Amino acid sequence: MTESNIVCPQCSGPLDLRRERIACDACGQAFSRDSESGLPLLFFDHSRSPEDVTARIKDFYEKTPFPDYELIDSAATLRIKSERGLFARLLDEQIPHGARILEAGCGTGQLSNFLGLTLDRQVTGADLCLNSLRMAEAFRRKNDIQNVRFLQMNLFKPVFKPGSFDLVICNGVLHHTSDPCGGFRSIARLVKPSGHVLVGLYHAYSRIPTDVRRIIFRVFGNRFKFLDYRLRGKSIGDRKKNAWFMDQYKNPHESKHTLGELIGWFKREGFEYLNGIPKPVPFQPFLPHENLFEKNPEGSFLDHFLVEAGQFFAGDREGGFFLMIGRKK
Ligand SMILES: C[S@@+](CC[C@H](N)C(=O)[O-])C[C@H]1O[C@@H](n2cnc3c(N)ncnc32)[C@H](O)[C@@H]1O
Repeated sequence: MTESNIVCPQCSGPLDLRRERIACDACGQAFSRDSESGLPLLFFDHSRSPEDVTARIKDFYEKTPFPDYELIDSAATLRIKSERGLFARLLDEQIPHGARILEAGCGTGQLSNFLGLTLDRQVTGADLCLNSLRMAEAFRRKNDIQNVRFLQMNLFKPVFKPGSFDLVICNGVLHHTSDPCGGFRSIARLVKPSGHVLVGLYHAYSRIPTDVRRIIFRVFGNRFKFLDYRLRGKSIGDRKKNAWFMDQYKNPHESKHTLGELIGWFKREGFEYLNGIPKPVPFQPFLPHENLFEKNPEGSFLDHFLVEAGQFFAGDREGGFFLMIGRKK
């Protein structure tokens, strides 16, 4: 990432992060650095509406950073654990050489740091939550991951020029904002022509089992935690279990979406649908050697209905989540 791509989130004037005192020459807005991690604090508020959830969401994740690094103490364990997920492995293998990547809403930065283990790419992880970013930066420094950087940013007020990135990842983030479609519009601008966007959202139907469990926990207390697959399993430690429990069941705000809706956002912002999990056409499984960046059919309304109905019955180990990749035309 060249420094000339960084702009002031208030006026889009140039911003030089190499300076000791970060300030916009155009509008005079000053920004500080975190005294603990040295990270640039470039968060800028985008809404004065009392209904906007940004401050509440920030507060929530400051207290329970997600997903947390418990049991991941080195770059080697990060790689092993990340590659257990088919999607993360394929992404890492298939991202084009030399790519510039932004993870908007990187949380504690596992994916950014994992992708940064491959040297020929530049990764930027950005999030609202300073405590998450501190964990991300501490891991990056400890493992000397050179081509990743973290900064605090509100995705509605990005600090990058339009078209700065080959790939923008926004996984599990937009549904925690007051305006997911507006958030998508904001990050879509940062993708360069022929570049890609990857978005993960909660699904309207496959999230229903989580909603039911949330009600059970509220009524009967936390002794029913075993109803959640991750909370009863032994694959993650107690701290990660707590982060998952809070994220899934105590989150102050989430919205739910459909396959057709996200494909609609893609079209409106000039993207074509390429691939996703689940695929929006029935009986087309996502394969272990899938080419993520190859064009696949986007399906009809009926296809979406059949896939979505199937998802409801397929279980919700990932919390009722779907992912899509699009290419900017
Ligand atoms: C569920 S976590 C997902 C973290 C990470 N993407 C992952 O998949 O593990 C949601 C993250 O979105 C961040 N977030 C929510 N609204 C945001 C905004 N307006 N700008 C930047 N980050 C935001 C939160 O701070 C939180 O870290």
